[in-house]
Amino acid sequence: RSSQLMMAVGTAVIGSLQFGYNTGVINAPQNIIESFYNETWSSRFSEPIPQTTLTALWSLSVAIFSVGGMLGSFSVGLFVNRFGRRNSMLMANVLAFISAIFMGFSKLAASFEMLTIGRLIVGVYSGLSTGFVPMYIEEISPTSLRGALGTLHQLGVVIGILMAQIFGIESIMGNASLWPLLLGFTLLPAVLQCVLLPLCPESPRYLLINCNEESKARSVLIKLRGTDEVSEEMEEMKEESQQMMKEKKVTIPELFRAPMYRQPIFVAIMLQLSQQLSGINAVSQMSKGEPLEGSGSPDPLFVVERMGRRPLHLIGLMGMAVSAVFLTVAMALLLKWMSYISIVAIFSFVAFFEIGPGPIPWFIVAELFSQGPRPAAIAVAGFSNWSANFLVGMSFQYIEQLCGPYVFIIFTILLLGFFVFTYFKVPETKGCTFDEIAAGFRQSAGQGSDKYSAPEEFNTLRGDEPDL
Ligand SMILES: *[C@@H]1O[C@H](CO)[C@@H](O)[C@H](O)[C@H]1NC(C)=O
Repeated sequence: RSSQLMMAVGTAVIGSLQFGYNTGVINAPQNIIESFYNETWSSRFSEPIPQTTLTALWSLSVAIFSVGGMLGSFSVGLFVNRFGRRNSMLMANVLAFISAIFMGFSKLAASFEMLTIGRLIVGVYSGLSTGFVPMYIEEISPTSLRGALGTLHQLGVVIGILMAQIFGIESIMGNASLWPLLLGFTLLPAVLQCVLLPLCPESPRYLLINCNEESKARSVLIKLRGTDEVSEEMEEMKEESQQMMKEKKVTIPELFRAPMYRQPIFVAIMLQLSQQLSGINAVSQMSKGEPLEGSGSPDPLFVVERMGRRPLHLIGLMGMAVSAVFLTVAMALLLKWMSYISIVAIFSFVAFFEIGPGPIPWFIVAELFSQGPRPAAIAVAGFSNWSANFLVGMSFQYIEQLCGPYVFIIFTILLLGFFVFTYFKVPETKGCTFDEIAAGFRQSAGQGSDKYSAPEEFNTLRGDEPDL
């Protein structure tokens, strides 16, 4: 086993950890930061803050993270092809530093605006990370380990959320004097990643296909695999590179116009929606402060390689739907929300999320596309994910007021819908090369069985500048 590979994956996953940390960090100290807003407002305007203003300001500070995430995920493509995967991750840390300073010094400066701006910036960082990290891990991993290592991104996110919840305990950092440190903590992983990333290799796929640096790619691959026998993998990449000569870089509008990408991008978007509209955020909001995520959930790491992505996603969705039914029954009939059944239902809901809709969409998206359209596809997928995240975050309170205990019926219906969609439309990507997956889509889209008989739009893509 190559320690280089593990080191590179581990370093990249710090970005996932940052995303998880900043997702979770804002929940626990809500009341404390709200009174900071109140005090700041009072000293500025010599009157206590109206409750509606406080709610609005607080919601903004929480939700603006998703807006930043959208911006970031949409910008992934601007970076990865120009600067490379590793250097993009390195550069993004500038945002983590700036945001840590804004959030960490907001109390000292008596400015809730600084905290909000910091949340926006760390949102942009997180949006970039959720694009960079899975892409980098996919591209440095051997095909046989791609799925297993791909789930480490989600594991990093969960660990980040857990860390935020633990640090947010009142006796640690979730108190009136230390909450700026709690938010500014994001500085430390950024420093760590900046130290470690220069020791990690650039993606061999990027070196070979984007930069045309064959010998560099080979030596990186030899280090990553810990063996000299990398010619087969080099061949596979070269084959993809030749395919690329025909494909070239695909922009986001082209992704939607070309019939050959229409179906995979639709699948990619639906998978992201199945994650965010599954109700996981609703459950997290309800169980505020309790370290739910990850607790007792099975580690899908190597199961993904054995069982494949599709069955895991199907099991996850169905399990969540069944849990949601139990949760609804428990909430509606027993009247007492914290009953035994609802606790069990919540735990199984989260566990099934960690099996399927949590990890699977992130790396199945990267597996659906070859090098040409992948950056654009990941950007679109990330954008869908963040938009849905924002939507659920903003609307859940209102829907809950409207539907009361029956709110999870909506998620049950959505989950069953996504189950049916996955069953009929999502292909298995386990152990397939990108070429095989793309060919499968082209066949099922009825574009002719010859995978090189490109549709008309295909030829217009060739006019693009080579991406160096
Ligand atoms: C703001 O602080 C004042 C004084 O501590 C308190 O009376 C008031 O209820 C607070 N306002 C809100 C909206 O929490």
